[in-house]
Amino acid sequence: MAKTYTIALIPGDGTGPEVVREGVKVLNAAAVKAGFKLEFTEFDFGAERYLKTGETLPDSAIEEFKKFDSMFLGAIGHPDVKPGILETGILLKTRFALDQYINLRPVRLYPNVETPLKDKGPDDIDFVVIRENTGGIYTSIGGATRVGTPDEIATQLMVYDRRTVDRCLKYAFELKKKRNAKNPKYAAKPITLIHKRNVLTHCGDLWYRAFEEMGEKQYPELKRDYNHVDAANMWFVKNPEWFDVAVTENLFGDIITDLGAMIQGGLGVASGGNINPEGVSMFEPMGGSAPKYTGKNVINPMAAIGAAMMMLDTIGESKAAQGIEAAMIAVMQKMKSQAAGQMGMSTTEVGDQIADLVAKK
Ligand code: IPM
Ligand code: MN
Repeated sequence: MAKTYTIALIPGDGTGPEVVREGVKVLNAAAVKAGFKLEFTEFDFGAERYLKTGETLPDSAIEEFKKFDSMFLGAIGHPDVKPGILETGILLKTRFALDQYINLRPVRLYPNVETPLKDKGPDDIDFVVIRENTGGIYTSIGGATRVGTPDEIATQLMVYDRRTVDRCLKYAFELKKKRNAKNPKYAAKPITLIHKRNVLTHCGDLWYRAFEEMGEKQYPELKRDYNHVDAANMWFVKNPEWFDVAVTENLFGDIITDLGAMIQGGLGVASGGNINPEGVSMFEPMGGSAPKYTGKNVINPMAAIGAAMMMLDTIGESKAAQGIEAAMIAVMQKMKSQAAGQMGMSTTEVGDQIADLVAKK
């Protein structure tokens, strides 16, 4: 009997539904081709529902999400909703409640995709960032007092415990091992811890010692490196070829992966996975809801399709994932640009062409 996977869809706001539609199209083609089944259940969480009902994401939804094999999110955010409400109420709530403690963000420049980096090509830009996804400043521990007065004070603490650090590092080391086995080019490079331990002497020290200990004891065969986050920014631009697996805490990971997205060709192509290796994960294009492109059929669905590919890889359908990636690469060859409105193709055409190739190969 064909294996069936259940997928929760949250198309969300703005261009989210447009790119999720193309992602689903490609997923369906991949399922038919590989002989498994996908069962989608759509949820309407997002700005519209919030503006109508005042509800972001009820706890009951979290309980429902737990029953799925995986989740696929479009985008969250709306010009009429104050920043922070939907982000924390939907996206961060899901990440935390489902303990999606890994944010996996590949930074890979595909052929025929433009990078702003001079003299760098697909061979140079091919690494992954593992961003710890549940701790640090995102735990929102802190507060404010005397707000609105000249004496106001605000704090927001960077909080990490050893277990949270260790489980993230474990994932990173394991991924590094896998990549090394796959490609000698990767094996020649170190796994890099990124932090700011020259200033963040408590959290940075915790991460660094945990990294060194785990590396030394459990992965002595893997080369290790360490970069301060400010320096890592420079190297991402100047020498991206130095990186293979970079692992970092939550806020630094948030910041450097936007830079990563840019050097791989922009938000049109950058995908990410919020992964709970023991539970339910959620995949998403890194771009936002892009109100100005909404409903025009001009947004690039490539990042969403890439997220769909990562989803299949994570649930164990690696061959189907590879088929999607090959089709993405082939269609990218035919596109004029990966920027919204400049692709030389519409949103639906990109999806159609990738789905066709997935079905044929
Ligand atoms: C991201 C986003 C989110 C984050 C926001 C929208 C809460 O920037 O996924 O990188 O900061 O994690
Ligand atoms: Mn971000």
